[in-house]
Amino acid sequence: MASIDNLRLIGISGTNKVMAGELSRLARRAIPGIRMPKPAKQGLGALVYPFDTELAAVAVSYHRTASRVLWDLFESHARRLEPLYEELVEDISRDTREWLWDGASISIRARNVQSFAAGERQVVGAVKNALVDGARARGMRLRIEPDDPDILIAVRIHDGILSVSVDLAGRAMHQRGYRLEAGDAPLRENLAAVLVMLSRYDSRSDVLVDPLAGSGTIPIEAILMAKAASQWTEKRQPAYLRLPIYSEAKVKTEALYPDSKPTVVACDIDMRAIEMIRQNAKAAGVLDDLQVIHIDVRDLSPRVLEKTVGPTWDPRQVLVLCNPPYGERLEGGEVDLYQDLNEWSQQFTEGRAAFMIGNPQFEEIFKREPRVRKPISNGSLRGYYCLYDL
Ligand SMILES: C[S@@+](CC[C@H](N)C(=O)[O-])C[C@H]1O[C@@H](n2cnc3c(N)ncnc32)[C@H](O)[C@@H]1O
Repeated sequence: MASIDNLRLIGISGTNKVMAGELSRLARRAIPGIRMPKPAKQGLGALVYPFDTELAAVAVSYHRTASRVLWDLFESHARRLEPLYEELVEDISRDTREWLWDGASISIRARNVQSFAAGERQVVGAVKNALVDGARARGMRLRIEPDDPDILIAVRIHDGILSVSVDLAGRAMHQRGYRLEAGDAPLRENLAAVLVMLSRYDSRSDVLVDPLAGSGTIPIEAILMAKAASQWTEKRQPAYLRLPIYSEAKVKTEALYPDSKPTVVACDIDMRAIEMIRQNAKAAGVLDDLQVIHIDVRDLSPRVLEKTVGPTWDPRQVLVLCNPPYGERLEGGEVDLYQDLNEWSQQFTEGRAAFMIGNPQFEEIFKREPRVRKPISNGSLRGYYCLYDL
């Protein structure tokens, strides 16, 4: 085992560039004069930076495309439980960093540890025992608390190296807390944020339209990204604030761009979806920034958009961004809808349209050549992101 000191962002496979771009934007705004270190990539969905308390706090508070933000503390090449336990006890007993305290409760979450010569439970057990015994050697007692621990420990193996980290949010970052209702086939919030970034959404000029908005995840994330809103409130605080190293820190609730005035339109044919969009947008604090229309996409003409958006409407700046029904989770009628979307999009002679596609038939029917085509997954569903110039 060895001590390491890294900030690790974990996200959806294929999104390293997007995650790095987002963290740079946030850090440059939140930490004046920062010189952003270049991250090391670990596989397709993880970035590693040297640990910095301020940068880590900004990542947990504002980053929307990552699913986990970790403080990597130790790593080991051990392949068996005994050496893993012994190395870890020794490292923890000597560690002087301020992440542990007497009476802290911990829980351990293991991922990707299949390559270890023992089952996941045994790995979790060995790390747990090492943490308890290593802390005891420093005169600290730890409690095990599976549900709401003070410190959530993340254990994972990458390239044969097992790492032990603190999960700084204490939970998956896509659980934003605003989605009260999610509909039939919602996008993960951090995937919606990735789609917004991939589309190079510019909130100063683009009119973002989601004609199939479902529970409103894409429009809500677009507005929250434009404002660089915090993920947290006084009532709902991230776990890192409990660590002694952050004893002086306060929850960051203020947005980094509070005056941003994005133009975002969310539409759906289903009245229940419209209610969900309004409810979720209200919970996210962005209802006033969102235009919601109950309409069949087939009737959503540029004239309707012009009337909705008002004098700032500029057809050159339209950015359609949505995920059409996949056909796997939603029943019937998709092919007709894809055909109608293709015809509908012909009304826009400028701007761009981007889709998160789960059904290969979409690309056959939507005749244009995509400018960007990128494999990406929504949970267990494999799909593509395609960006078209209109
Ligand atoms: C896959 S869901 C979108 C999920 C959404 N991105 C979310 O995260 O919740 C597709 C949505 O398209 C809507 N829809 C289907 N046909 C439509 C049509 N012709 N016009 C407008 N909305 C339609 C459905 O009601 C559904 O809410």
